[in-house]
Amino acid sequence: MTGNTPILMKSAPVVEQSLSELSSKCSALKEKGITPTMKVILVGDNPASIIYTRNKKRFMEKFGAECEIIKLPSNLSETEFLSKVKAIVDDQSNHGCFVQLPLPKQLSHIDVGELIPPSKDVDGFNKANIMNLFKGEKGESALIPCTPKGIITLCNHYGIELLGKNVVVIGRSLIVGKPMSLLLGNHNATVTMCHSRTQNLKEHTKAADIIVIAIGSAKFLTKEFLNNSKKQYIIDVGMNQDENGKLCGDADYQNIKELVAGITPVPGGVGPMTILSLAQNLLQAAENSL
Ligand code: GUN
Repeated sequence: MTGNTPILMKSAPVVEQSLSELSSKCSALKEKGITPTMKVILVGDNPASIIYTRNKKRFMEKFGAECEIIKLPSNLSETEFLSKVKAIVDDQSNHGCFVQLPLPKQLSHIDVGELIPPSKDVDGFNKANIMNLFKGEKGESALIPCTPKGIITLCNHYGIELLGKNVVVIGRSLIVGKPMSLLLGNHNATVTMCHSRTQNLKEHTKAADIIVIAIGSAKFLTKEFLNNSKKQYIIDVGMNQDENGKLCGDADYQNIKELVAGITPVPGGVGPMTILSLAQNLLQAAENSL
């Protein structure tokens, strides 16, 4: 598509609009004696993780929830880590917890989703919650992985139809690519999951109505992957640094934005949607605890 004005799929209006709903849900819970409370377990001093967790805490407090970041040293042993996490998840005063990833090397083999009980798993990483996604259950009480859930919210806000559409997901990570593919299928999209071993990736992307890219490779998705005769939407999950150290996505935003029907900016696109979903999951977990 050339010469069009693409929809710039910014998260800000969606987050703005959702905040009043979050605030009123939070107030209603407080009236019932529940202050939605989240505990974030942050191990070590990864600079990106420090920023992400700070942003998450700020957002929870914006609508009246409580959020505590529990900082643990990077040289923590596995036994110490497991016992700290257990004490936090057993504490009845919180409704949601998660371990910020990545973990330091000596802990990186641990499946953190299994350390958090399904009822408090605001990340949606526990097997029971993934199983719900797998089965396609649409129950209101479900805790759905945050980035995929946020992308569906974003598409709904901008009126991007998923039913029957060809969606190509590039990336097969546990946090984004795999749960995204399942969730899109549950929303009646026809999903193709591509990855580093996919042959003829361009053939897949040219046939797509929507491309979700989550591979962590700066400006990978160039105009050569697009189809000029089709209305295509690009959802960019990437958070990379370009050659000048500037934040950029997995899509070559500057060079493709005029060629597509819609695109998410980086920053200000998918990132804040992940935090919005986390907030929605926290309120859901708090409500489920009633
Ligand atoms: N690190 C990067 N993204 C995420 C996420 O969604 N959840 C957690 N726990 N850690 C992350």
